[in-house]
Amino acid sequence: MNLQDQLENTISKLTAPGKGLLAADESTATITKRLSAVGVESTEENRRQYRSLILSAPGLGESISGVILYEETLSQRDDNGTPLPQVAAHQGIVPGIKVDKGKGPMPNAPGDEITSGLDGLEERLEHYRELGARFAKWRSVYHIAEHNPGAAAIEANAEVLARYAAICQCQGVVPIVEPEVLINGSHGIDRCAEVSEAVIRAVFNALYRHGVQLETMILKPSMITPGQEHSRQASPEEVAEFTLRTFRRCVPAAVPVIHFLSGGQTPEEATLNLNAINQMAQPWTLGFSYGRALQEPAQKAWAGHAENWQAAQTALLKRARLNSRACLGEYQPTMEAA
Ligand code: 13P
Repeated sequence: MNLQDQLENTISKLTAPGKGLLAADESTATITKRLSAVGVESTEENRRQYRSLILSAPGLGESISGVILYEETLSQRDDNGTPLPQVAAHQGIVPGIKVDKGKGPMPNAPGDEITSGLDGLEERLEHYRELGARFAKWRSVYHIAEHNPGAAAIEANAEVLARYAAICQCQGVVPIVEPEVLINGSHGIDRCAEVSEAVIRAVFNALYRHGVQLETMILKPSMITPGQEHSRQASPEEVAEFTLRTFRRCVPAAVPVIHFLSGGQTPEEATLNLNAINQMAQPWTLGFSYGRALQEPAQKAWAGHAENWQAAQTALLKRARLNSRACLGEYQPTMEAA
């Protein structure tokens, strides 16, 4: 297959109607936080077991089209010796890989951060492809505060996101472009909309400058919501209205799919909001690429005990199925009880 065919083949799988992505690409520091929250020590072996558990949940491929893995997982194997990317692939789930090297303070821009990881990316992608990865993810983050994010951070993060995306496509790897506007803060929904629009406009300008093919990329943004500490939380209908209004203004219709991150919403909120979004007319396929909102219930159910393996898989499958219904606008809160 030539590069263009590879990109098209992957994107068609990752836009399957009624399916979303599982973000299981937590860095070692982040998964350590998640596992400690349920009383599990974050050893390499425990991480291998936990990730084997989620990737082998029977029937996961019915609602999940792709999984984003962390580098460590890419070369781990399940108890039968099958490489974990293949465990996913056997379920019809396309394996992908987080390729950024994390974020850090941006010099001369107090309160803003910049993501790194472009050096050596081409060579790393070749290696990841050999291990089965067909798409990649790069996350930039933006804090909302009185003077954040500043223009320099918006431009610099857009530039690296676009350079990353261009490098991926040149290797036949579909890029997930993830500008995450963080939910922390006491700002209202209007301010989130204003910041998100500025961020996304800058990202698409940069993607254009770098010749990124919009038809074979995925946008992974946050939904437009009030800050977590705001005095009034928004209804799913308000979230849907603000989110779609903002994206219609700045995301070209050539982008095939927008897979939202959950960003600190509870699992139920993330499903309700996605469902409301899918009840309004829009030019893109709108799905999910959730980490916490898919995995939290499974992590709690597992708590590191082998006898809870099945209960944990059931908890993951439940969230995956409900979000799959939300992709079609067919979710009802009463389904939570089933
Ligand atoms: P959350 O859904 O937990 O925000 O994670 C998605 C993700 O991949 C963040 O980079």
